[in-house]
Amino acid sequence: MIEPQESPDGEDTTASATATLPPPPPCERLSWHKTNICSRSYFMVVMVFFHIYIINVIALLLYVHYNNSQGDATPRPDAPSSDHQLPESHRPPSRSDFLRDISLPRVEGIRVGHVQKVSLVPDKVHEMRTLSLKPLLFEIPEFLSEEECRVVMQLAQLKGLMESQLMVQEGQEELVEELNLSPEEIFNLLDINQDGQLQLHEILTHSRVRDGIWLTPENLREIYAGLKADKDDNGLLSLEEFRLLSNDAFQRFLLQRGVKRSQLVRNSRHTWLYQGKGAHQVLQDLKKRVTRLTQLPSALVDLSEPLQVVRYEQGGHYHAHHDSGPVYPETACTHTRLAANTSTPFETSCRYITVLFYLNSVEGGGETAFPVADNRTYDEVSLIQNDVDLLDTRKNCDKSNLRVKPTKGTAVFWYNYLSDGRGWVGEQDEYSLHGGCVVTHGTKWVANKWINIDPDYQRQARYQQLVSQQPEDEDDEGLKMSPDLHSSDLHQDL
Ligand code: OGA
Ligand code: CA
Ligand code: FE2
Repeated sequence: MIEPQESPDGEDTTASATATLPPPPPCERLSWHKTNICSRSYFMVVMVFFHIYIINVIALLLYVHYNNSQGDATPRPDAPSSDHQLPESHRPPSRSDFLRDISLPRVEGIRVGHVQKVSLVPDKVHEMRTLSLKPLLFEIPEFLSEEECRVVMQLAQLKGLMESQLMVQEGQEELVEELNLSPEEIFNLLDINQDGQLQLHEILTHSRVRDGIWLTPENLREIYAGLKADKDDNGLLSLEEFRLLSNDAFQRFLLQRGVKRSQLVRNSRHTWLYQGKGAHQVLQDLKKRVTRLTQLPSALVDLSEPLQVVRYEQGGHYHAHHDSGPVYPETACTHTRLAANTSTPFETSCRYITVLFYLNSVEGGGETAFPVADNRTYDEVSLIQNDVDLLDTRKNCDKSNLRVKPTKGTAVFWYNYLSDGRGWVGEQDEYSLHGGCVVTHGTKWVANKWINIDPDYQRQARYQQLVSQQPEDEDDEGLKMSPDLHSSDLHQDL
């Protein structure tokens, strides 16, 4: 890295130095002085080269030193978002800067198909298989016993399950008005290939979901026909055709015609089960097992969302989605809202890990699909091609890169975020896109254990401080590894 820059400089300097040397002495005329004079000029040339060499070495050392100190001064990308603070290089290191040395362990995938033995409960060794690297995804058969599956389903029934998605949420169409965009501006934003026409996939890429209703290319064609929107019937909307539609025209058309549950993003029922002190032993055991599996500090698992138990009836589905939101500077995590300094316009779930448990074996369908797992690239626009929407788990699960069959007792888990390279949570892993395929026969029961971590380290630390109600000096415990958990004795390669 350094050498290619240094050697051309060296050569240039050498050339110019040689050019300024005095002309060679007249060796042939002064023969008795010949060796003397010639050796002096030889000596001078050697000295010049020697100096250049020394200068080069010094320059090289300075270059290396300068580069290193520049790296140290660069503020870390996850530095606190409070803009009023001095850059980190200008501040004396605070306690929380030292705390950042804490590294979140991340289970290694090695390669797809790799199996590692894990010790999660006494007297049993589980096998954990790597299913994909993008996202980092694992499968652990027999994670729960039959009995545990039964207890979790019964506890959920006892508590009562509610519809995962309400039929219609009103008021979203106002957003477009609030944004104050003209029809021309909206048209231009939607027209990805800028050909002056809106193709079906251009509309769907941006507005696949409106008011919780999932649009398919077929729906869109029906809407065009119903509203006589596509006057020249070429399957495309021109700006003139688009201008005649109101913002909520599609929505109103669908609502008037009546929306079925199968047209929603998610068609299931769910409930939440607390896993803290006093909870059913099975739920507490499960939490402990998840802590061992993920190797995370127990405080992080303890402070995460409760267990979500989901039931899909025959015909149920969940279209492909991310469990967690992207990381923007203005984004706040729902779970650390308490610790946010200001109210932020965007709030999202920050679910570092999803652990999904299959509580029964499904008779038909109901796989968990990962449409773009281990794809070479992730491109939002190419998720819909030729009217095939890879996110549609009612129609296109067979085109997903990876599908996990629901088997009673099996757990799968994956990371929704990448590492930031320094032991904390980094960017969202877009490849973690997944969904529940339509259940064709029987019912499907699953449970989700999400582990919430704020990608903003300071906010997570502040939140843990707040909830633990401990004086500042004791709070570090919250993020420390529990002493009984050491990854090396948990995971052993096969
Ligand atoms: C979820 C989910 C997948 C499935 O509940 O968030 O993605 O297979 N479920 O049910
Ligand atoms: Ca277009
Ligand atoms: Fe999900």
